[in-house]
Amino acid sequence: MTATRLLSGSTEEGLDAAVEILVSGGVVALPTETVYGLAADAGNESAVHKIFASKGRPTTHPLIAHVADPAHARVLAADWPASAELLAEAFWPGPLTLLVEKSDAVPSAVTGGRSTVAIRVPAHPIMLQLLSRLHEKGVIGLAAPSANRFGSISPTSAQHVLDDLDGLIDAVLDGGECNVGVESTIIDCTNDPLRVLRPGGVPTERIEAVLKASSLDLVESFDTATDKTEAIAPGMLESHYAPESRLEIFETEEQMHARLSELNAEGSRCVVLPHPTNVDDYSRTLYANLRVCDVGRPDVILAVLPAAVGLGVAIRDRLRKASAAR
Ligand code: TXA
Ligand code: MG
Repeated sequence: MTATRLLSGSTEEGLDAAVEILVSGGVVALPTETVYGLAADAGNESAVHKIFASKGRPTTHPLIAHVADPAHARVLAADWPASAELLAEAFWPGPLTLLVEKSDAVPSAVTGGRSTVAIRVPAHPIMLQLLSRLHEKGVIGLAAPSANRFGSISPTSAQHVLDDLDGLIDAVLDGGECNVGVESTIIDCTNDPLRVLRPGGVPTERIEAVLKASSLDLVESFDTATDKTEAIAPGMLESHYAPESRLEIFETEEQMHARLSELNAEGSRCVVLPHPTNVDDYSRTLYANLRVCDVGRPDVILAVLPAAVGLGVAIRDRLRKASAAR
């Protein structure tokens, strides 16, 4: 492939170029509020195949379809349950992905051959603008996984995307740094009770609060039997989001320091992951900090986990996966 173009998301030329590439079946990395996504026209099977090829991702791992408007989401769904309507109204645009039965408008390349499709309306203004323009040109939505090489750390800046995919994709649209920093929460609306398949940018407590008024229940199925979760949502592999260096995780600062002394005494080269006390800051900077820690390829990166409330649940999930043995 030719060189990857770096486009500015704050200029008309940048947006125009991104639209043109996407309409003609190319792949462009785009900013969202969670992480950068590697996008292609969801209705164009050969464009969607390019996503898998450039990421090195197995084609059985389904992609999220991004749309500008909840009304566009319904076109992609064979069935739009009341639960999806309720959650879309409460959290879209935003870091929430809803799993529903797919309509014939969605090629099976997007869903890895599954009968369901994962959909979200992202909250990033540049992404929304792009999706609207593309919709006017007849594009049903953008299929987009996180814009990193398969198994590595998700990108939260245009530079991160280039670090992983330069030369492998057509362009990156620079929209600055992502302000949520962890991927969207995924809710399976095809099941009663509803299931959390992946904790993410919308804390489960907020979703439960919305569901409370209805008779809908929610269960967390992301952290239980790994085999089962894997079958429901392929791609939630144990060793995902992983730096090159070994990552060790700790519940408390004290435990981390005790281990650090031990490792230092052994002569290991160690780096401590910054862990801001404000959980929003922790989340926003998590992946960038993991990348920085990884640069010198230390023997060990040590991380202190946040409490398992709010966004802390998603951070814990990612760090646990990043620390899993490969
Ligand atoms: O915040 C996000 O969700 C970002 C931005 C770019 O939108 N996207 C993202 O995509 O994290 P990705 O591909 O890295 O993770 C999406 C996960 C997949 O691992 C897969 O397990 C699940 O969504 N998924 C997608 N479609 C599915 C389906 N039909 N059935 C089950 N799981 C699905
Ligand atoms: Mg990913």
